[in-house]
Amino acid sequence: MKILVTGGAGYIASHTNLELLNAGYEVVAIDNFSNSSMESIRRVEKLTGKKIHFYEADILDKEALTDIFSRESIQAVIHFAGLKAVGESCEIPLKYFKNNLSGTITLLEVMQEFGVKNLAFSSSATVYGDPATVPVTEEFPLSVTNPYGRTKLMIEDMLRDLFQSDPSWNIAILRYFNPIGAHESGEIGEDPNGIPNNLVPYIAKVASGALDKIHIFGNDYDTPDGTGVRDYIHVVDLALGHIKAIEKLQENPGLVTYNLGTGVGYSVMDIIHNYEKACGKKLPYVIDPRRPGDIAVTYADPTKARKELGWTAERGIDKMCEDTYRWQSKNPNGYRNL
Ligand code: NAD
Ligand code: UFG
Repeated sequence: MKILVTGGAGYIASHTNLELLNAGYEVVAIDNFSNSSMESIRRVEKLTGKKIHFYEADILDKEALTDIFSRESIQAVIHFAGLKAVGESCEIPLKYFKNNLSGTITLLEVMQEFGVKNLAFSSSATVYGDPATVPVTEEFPLSVTNPYGRTKLMIEDMLRDLFQSDPSWNIAILRYFNPIGAHESGEIGEDPNGIPNNLVPYIAKVASGALDKIHIFGNDYDTPDGTGVRDYIHVVDLALGHIKAIEKLQENPGLVTYNLGTGVGYSVMDIIHNYEKACGKKLPYVIDPRRPGDIAVTYADPTKARKELGWTAERGIDKMCEDTYRWQSKNPNGYRNL
């Protein structure tokens, strides 16, 4: 079975490509390299000994998409392509709306033209806003606080409307919590441009000496140690969730929505301590004010994915930190030190 992976050179996609190839799927990938490079594709090919049919193209380019769908007999699409930096989305919202919304509309139009109606979409726990209670189930009310989150919620709404108009679509909306970690080979991992915005890539740079200290954004939240609590999920578990979602789409489920998280919350301090264990040294930190827009606590109720997909996250926080550390140590400059 041939799967098109949009944003196919990115962080979550590279781990998903590897698991798809290992599970016997054929992978066609498209990326414009706005936040990635060809090296992740090469490394997945090397790790699996299999080829990815790769196209350097933009999902906004309808002609390019049409060409790919004409050449390859695609049966399902995993749609990762998108811009994802929350802070940047507040500064340049139109770029986010154009890329994420227009890109998705173009992709859906071409899928419809070619009668390819099986889709897994990368949504985010950000669509739950600041949840009133935890754990968060898929039925919780949806709200967003920044343009990035709005693109996710608008695409979800678009998909629900599309399904309403044509129930022959099969759509899995996958709401990721906080993906971290790397493949245990240390060959593929997260490679953010510039100074990282997210906690674990930032800690990794402090541990490697590229940055001098961790900035903890607030220690006065209503949490056990005062720092923010999130549901960190190993990227390989997340990738395996996509394999289960692709299997589900083959049962013609209609539109389904799943949280992909572990169900366990860890604080910023917990993550720092676990990373210290992984790298074998103390990491300097300072307490800064809260980051605007941050919430105190969120973690998933992953019961629905367990019951309906037969999927559970199996890798714990120790492994998440050890694998991040291995990737960072082997590739101090990510994919760019070549
Ligand atoms: P990533 O930036 O590593 O991957 C996204 C890929 O899409 C990049 O390779 C980028 O070059 C590509 N891309 C962007 N716009 C494109 C376009 N117009 N045409 C072709 N390619 C394009 O990010 P990731 O962390 O792997 O995230 C993948 C998806 O999961 C995104 O949609 C993101 O919003 C979503 N998500 C990520 C997180 C997270 O914390 N990492 C959490 C929830 C949801
Ligand atoms: N944090 C710090 N210092 C940092 C970075 C983060 O203390 O340098 C804290 C934050 O305040 C928060 C926690 O670490 O409490 C996690 O922050 P991240 O930036 O790593 O992740 P977020 O939970 O803010 O957001 C991430 C993605 C979003 C996605 C969301 C899904 O960035 O795109 O997870 O839950 F929508």
